[in-house]
Amino acid sequence: MEPFFALMHVVMTIVTFTRANETTCVLQGQPVYPQLWKDGDIILGGVFSFHSSWEVRQLTYSITPPPLKCISLNCRDFQYAQSMLFAIEEINNSSTLLPGVKLGYKVYDTCGSMAMAVRVTMALANGHENTTSNESCTKQGYVQAILGDTTSSACMAMAKSIGPFKLPMISHYATCECLGDKIKYPSFLRTITSDYYQSRALAELVRHFGWTWVGAIRTDDDYGNTGMATFTKVAEQMGICLEYSLPFFRTYPEDKVLRIIEQIKSSTSRVIVGFLVHWDLEVLLHKFVEHNITGFQWVGTEGWISDSVIASMDKHHILQGAVGLAIPKNEVTGLKDFILDIKPLKSSGSAIFTELWESLFQCKYSNKNDSSFTTECSGKEELSDMQNTFTDMSLMPIFSNVYKGVYAVAHALHDLLGCTDKCETKKQPDPSTFLKNLRKVHFKTKDGEEVYFDENGEAVAKYEIINWQPGQIKHDEFVSVGLYDASLPVNDRMSVNTASIIWANNKTKVPVSVCSESCPPGTRKAVQKGRPVCCYDCIPCTEGEISNMTDSVTCLRCHEDFWSNRKKDGCVKKETEYLSYEEIMGILLTTISIVGAFITMLVAVIFFRYKNTPIVKANNSELSFLLLFSLMLCFLCSLTFIGRPTEWSCMLRHTAFGITFVLCISCVLGKTIVVLMAFKATLPGSNVMKWFGPVQQRLSVLGFTLIQVLICILWLTTTPPFPFKNINYFKERIILECNVGSALGFWAVLGYVGFLALWCFILAFLARKLPDNFNEAKFITFSMLIFCAVWIAFIPAYVSSPGKFTVAVEIFAILASSFGLLFCIFLPKCYVILLKPEKNSKRHMMGK
Ligand SMILES: *[C@@H]1O[C@H](CO)[C@@H](O)[C@H](O)[C@H]1NC(C)=O
Ligand SMILES: *[C@@H]1O[C@H](CO)[C@@H](O)[C@H](O)[C@H]1NC(C)=O
Ligand SMILES: *[C@@H]1O[C@H](CO)[C@@H](O)[C@H](O)[C@H]1NC(C)=O
Ligand SMILES: *[C@@H]1O[C@H](CO)[C@@H](O)[C@H](O)[C@H]1NC(C)=O
Ligand SMILES: *[C@@H]1O[C@H](CO)[C@@H](O)[C@H](O)[C@H]1NC(C)=O
Ligand SMILES: *[C@@H]1O[C@H](CO)[C@@H](O)[C@H](O)[C@H]1NC(C)=O
Ligand SMILES: *[C@@H]1O[C@H](CO)[C@@H](O)[C@H](O)[C@H]1NC(C)=O
Ligand SMILES: *[C@@H]1O[C@H](CO)[C@@H](O)[C@H](O)[C@H]1NC(C)=O
Ligand SMILES: *[C@@H]1O[C@H](CO)[C@@H](O)[C@H](O)[C@H]1NC(C)=O
Repeated sequence: MEPFFALMHVVMTIVTFTRANETTCVLQGQPVYPQLWKDGDIILGGVFSFHSSWEVRQLTYSITPPPLKCISLNCRDFQYAQSMLFAIEEINNSSTLLPGVKLGYKVYDTCGSMAMAVRVTMALANGHENTTSNESCTKQGYVQAILGDTTSSACMAMAKSIGPFKLPMISHYATCECLGDKIKYPSFLRTITSDYYQSRALAELVRHFGWTWVGAIRTDDDYGNTGMATFTKVAEQMGICLEYSLPFFRTYPEDKVLRIIEQIKSSTSRVIVGFLVHWDLEVLLHKFVEHNITGFQWVGTEGWISDSVIASMDKHHILQGAVGLAIPKNEVTGLKDFILDIKPLKSSGSAIFTELWESLFQCKYSNKNDSSFTTECSGKEELSDMQNTFTDMSLMPIFSNVYKGVYAVAHALHDLLGCTDKCETKKQPDPSTFLKNLRKVHFKTKDGEEVYFDENGEAVAKYEIINWQPGQIKHDEFVSVGLYDASLPVNDRMSVNTASIIWANNKTKVPVSVCSESCPPGTRKAVQKGRPVCCYDCIPCTEGEISNMTDSVTCLRCHEDFWSNRKKDGCVKKETEYLSYEEIMGILLTTISIVGAFITMLVAVIFFRYKNTPIVKANNSELSFLLLFSLMLCFLCSLTFIGRPTEWSCMLRHTAFGITFVLCISCVLGKTIVVLMAFKATLPGSNVMKWFGPVQQRLSVLGFTLIQVLICILWLTTTPPFPFKNINYFKERIILECNVGSALGFWAVLGYVGFLALWCFILAFLARKLPDNFNEAKFITFSMLIFCAVWIAFIPAYVSSPGKFTVAVEIFAILASSFGLLFCIFLPKCYVILLKPEKNSKRHMMGK
């Protein structure tokens, strides 16, 4: 680009100079001549590429570069020029628009060269470049406005050079977003939408079909590069990744093209976004055919998507199924006939007319003696018999854009010249006033289309979504499958009828083009290191976390009362766990405790039945009955540990347990003391029995129990036990348990029981050898041994067993120690009472 800007600078300097010198209207340097020309009161400029390329001649050193030799005639731009001529003639014929003012035109050919575009722009801005006579400078030298050019790059160069003069130019096909910069291009207007919208619409289209992994090819010029840059930016925001983004230009060398082909061949994406102008796609298509690259789903810009030339070239169905954005179809009545009637062209430019004629009909005029052509043009050939680019009207929307541009100029002029029935003046208005007016025009064409420019001097964005479907005749048909209207709110802009689309490879299902399959619920995306965000692995959520959507980025942690289900796509309430009456362990423990209580009762009944026998009498029957009663309570209190913990059952559990056990142990203690005392009493000279008679026994039992009751009251009033949901022990289960509230309270209750038991054990141990008619002390020692062993074993089991087993262990300890007491103390006596009644006699007792 740099040499080009240098050239432009030189040209501009010349222009400024010559415009200052009004008497010299000749452009200095090589003169350029308009291809089509007609005089009028006010002249409009036209810049088109009648040729698409030029021949580079041998460079010989000279001050002025050699003129370009333009080659390969481009029928498209003839159609654009014809559209311009049509509009001008229509305005000229009209009696309401610009009555009496004759519009003229000068149309130049740029040969698709930017340098040339700048030169002809200078010629248009400068005026009488071909003056040879004295009639120069009788009117303004510059044209009123320039229509053109077709490509964005040429428009940028042109708009930059005429910007300082505020000479308006209106492009019909230059969509580059870059041209929206009104500081750089103040006098640039267009009747087509900016790529600002197209790039966005294209990205939305790609996202609409769920393609997140696409390749892209762009024309390596301002149109492709700027458009693709915007597309890339927007696509990235929408979570679309580009696998590759390749520039391509029709003049690229073979090895560079090969690299592009290789890249496409080795790609994994199935969708290609082509931000291309049709010239480049034509070349590319040949390469694709050559290398058998088929089966890609193409997404196209308006640069080629509605181009029937491309479609007719696509014999191998490479582009079949393509979807893309096209300028909405519209019709300009009369334009088609006008374009096809090329004969009047002869009057405005005979040289180019001849070339066009010869090219269209493949003939030569006889004055040119060329033996390679056998057919001679008769001048009577008819276009209606032909099928070629020139007769193809698929670009009617673009023709309409040219037409609208001319009308916009005419309407602005109409106002400025004060025309109603007749125009007040025919004097050409100055460019900046005219530009201001031009930007404000708002009118309807004869076909009812509203034309106006937005604040950037651009047409309002409206696209038709086109699908290439296999057609009956010659090539794919362009079927309209939806609309994109940027004037609507963001979410309503696009409407697509997906069902009516026929995709690449003649498929009816939307092709899939993703780097990684989407992640199902229950998993989350994890981006692969060093790869685009669209390439990811699906990682299952961890326990306790879920994702309930596809393509979730994170897993959500369930609320603490909830846990993930097996599929990890939803939270379920955690199971609560407690020792219940329904489960086997609960039933078993309940049964055992009831059986225990029942046996205790049975023993009590037996004792009551034989209360008058010596063995019952000798054994302190009052304490025995109290002991049996408390043992029954002990058995029953284990039931409070089973079932769902509630506030009451929690408080009841440990206190009931503590108190009944203390009652129980203190009875045993009382018995032990009685044995000790009884022995002492047999010694002569002491009457200890009166120190520990029944009253004292009752009082001591009551005293010991009261202490425990006090401890319990203290515990319950300060920090009572409460039901507690333990979520820490298991992740997927909640354990319902009783929190002891204060560990001190709990251990005080247990400790007091332990203390009494220990004391009882020691006393019983001392008394075990004492002679007794029925030595209870031996059995008490043994039972206390069992009792202590059970509760010492209980402590580590209690601390280490999880969940409901803690409770079970506690119940087990209660039952075991109760049974220990019951069996050790009462079983031998029952044995004697029931089975050995002969031993149950005073005589026998005394005998001992
Ligand atoms: C204008 O150009 C003519 C011819 O080149 C020259 O004689 C004349 O001095 C110029 N006038 C100005 C004001 O530069
Ligand atoms: C405009 O119309 C007049 C007659 O109405 C005609 O003489 C002239 O050639 C026309 N010009 C164009 C550009 O069609
Ligand atoms: C302009 O008027 C002439 C003669 O009246 C007619 O032949 C020509 O078709 C008209 N052109 C347009 C574009 O209407
Ligand atoms: C320009 O001038 C050359 C000769 O000076 C002449 O042959 C040609 O017809 C002129 N072109 C126009 C459009 O006046
Ligand atoms: C222009 O020059 C021609 C001769 O070349 C002459 O006949 C004509 O009168 C001149 N016109 C003006 C306006 O000077
Ligand atoms: C393309 O495919 C045809 C037949 O399917 C085969 O003959 C030809 O060699 C292939 N060309 C390339 C470049 O792979
Ligand atoms: C034109 O071609 C004829 C033969 O085809 C030849 O006789 C004649 O000299 C040629 N004229 C020119 C001007 O080349
Ligand atoms: C596409 O499919 C239709 C019917 O499903 C068939 O008639 C047509 O020939 C197919 N076209 C191509 C190019 O395969
Ligand atoms: C996913 O979970 C969130 C929060 O839990 C909820 O708002 C949303 O509705 C859920 N979505 C589906 C599809 O279940």
